[in-house]
Amino acid sequence: MPEVHLGLKGVYFASTTSSFIDGEVGKLLYRGYAIHDLAEHSTFEETAYLLLYGALPTRAELSAFDQQLKQSRPIPEPVMEVIRLTKQAHPMDVLRTAVSALAAYDPDVSDNSLAANLRKGIRLTAQVPTIICAHDRIRKGLPPVTPSNTLSHAANFLYMLFDKHPDPADAKLMDLDFILHAEHGSNASAFACRVAVSSLADLHGGITAAVATLKGPAHGGAAEEVMKMAEDIGTPERAEAYVRERLAKHGKVMGFGHRVYRAEDPRARHLRERSRELAERCGEPRWYQILDHIHEVMKPYNAKGIWVNVDFYAGSIYYLLGVPEDLFIPIFAAGRVPGWVLQAIEQYDDNILLRPLLEYTGPMDLQYVPIDQRG
Ligand SMILES: CC(C)(COP(=O)(O)OP(=O)(O)OC[C@H]1O[C@@H](n2cnc3c(N)ncnc32)[C@H](O)[C@@H]1OP(=O)(O)O)[C@@H](O)C(=O)NCCC(=O)NCCS
Repeated sequence: MPEVHLGLKGVYFASTTSSFIDGEVGKLLYRGYAIHDLAEHSTFEETAYLLLYGALPTRAELSAFDQQLKQSRPIPEPVMEVIRLTKQAHPMDVLRTAVSALAAYDPDVSDNSLAANLRKGIRLTAQVPTIICAHDRIRKGLPPVTPSNTLSHAANFLYMLFDKHPDPADAKLMDLDFILHAEHGSNASAFACRVAVSSLADLHGGITAAVATLKGPAHGGAAEEVMKMAEDIGTPERAEAYVRERLAKHGKVMGFGHRVYRAEDPRARHLRERSRELAERCGEPRWYQILDHIHEVMKPYNAKGIWVNVDFYAGSIYYLLGVPEDLFIPIFAAGRVPGWVLQAIEQYDDNILLRPLLEYTGPMDLQYVPIDQRG
C-alpha cells in the first residue's frame, strides 16, 4: 500500500532560499532576514527587492527599482475594459481574470528567462494594486484613479482606492501589511504557482493560478471571515459565548490555526499592536476589544498547536481604514505578488514537472456495458 500524505502535510518537494519558517517556535525569515526587522525597519519596496534579488538593495538600487515599479503601475486600456465587463464579480475573480488578461499585452509573456521573469514580476507587483482599485471604483460607478508616480507603493494603493492622498500613518500601516504578506514559502497559492510554471507555462499563468488559489477561506479568505465574525459578535461581552458555541459545534474560529505554525504566527504581533492603535485613533475600540476577547477564549487551544495567525488582526485594520470587506483577499494578493514571483523563479531555475501520485481506491476491471443495455 502506498503511503499517502494527505494535503502533502510534512512533505518537502524542493529546496528554497526564499523564506525560512520554523513553525515550532514561530520564526520567519525572508531571504535570511527576520520578519521582525523587516516589519520595523523596511518598506514594501525594499522587501520586494530583497525577495526578487536575494539581497538588500543599495540606495541607488532601491531608487531604480522604485522607479520601475512606479512606471509599471498603469494597466493597458483593454485590461481596464475587461475589468468593466466583469465588474459585478467578486474582486478576486476580477483580479484573476485581469492578471490573466495582462498576459495578452506583456511584451515578455512567453520569455521564461530570469531577466524576463524579473521584468514581468516587477510589472505584476505594480499592476495588481491598480487592477484592484480600478475595479472597486468602476463597480461604484466612479472613474478609476490614475496611479501616482510619486507616492510609495502602499500610499498609492490607498490613493487609488479612495481618490485622496492618504494619512501618512495609514500608508505606513498598509506598507507594514504588504511586508508581512510578501512571502511565505510553499503555501497553497505559491504551490499552485509552482505547479503551473513547472509545466513551463508562463509567469502570468503561475500568478493567475496563485490568485485563484488564494481566494479560499482556508487561505486568503480568513481576514474577511474574521471581520464577519467580529461583526456577528457585535459587542465584546458577546465574544466568549459566540466562540464557545462555535467550538462546541466543531466549527473553526477564523484567524486561528496554521498548517506550519505550532506557535504564534510571528507576523500577528505586529498587526495586533497596530490594530489596537488604529482602533484608538479611529475612536472605535470595540473591534479590537472583540478580537482581544476571542484571543483570550482561544488560549487553551494553544496547547493543541492552534494559535492566532496573521489574518486575525488584518481584517480589523482594513475595516478601520475603510476598505470594503471583499477587498481583504485582494490586498493579501497585492502584498504576496513578489513572493509568488520568487517561488516561480526558483521553480524555473531548477525545474521538474510537479506531478505527485494519487492512491486509487475505486473499483477495478469493471465490464463496459453498451448504453442501450444499461438498466
Ligand atoms: C489554516 C488551517 C486550514 C490549517 O489546517 P490544517 O493544518 O489542515 O489543520 P486541521 O484543519 O487538520 O486542524 C487540526 C485540528 O485543529 C483544529 N483546528 C484547526 N484550526 C482551528 C480553528 N481555527 N479553530 C478551531 N479548531 C481548529 C481542527 O478542527 C483539527 O481538530 P481535530 O484534530 O480535532 O479534527 C486551519 O487551521 C483553518 O482552517 N483555520 C481557520 C482559517 C484561517 O485562519 N486560515 C488562515 C491561515 S493563515
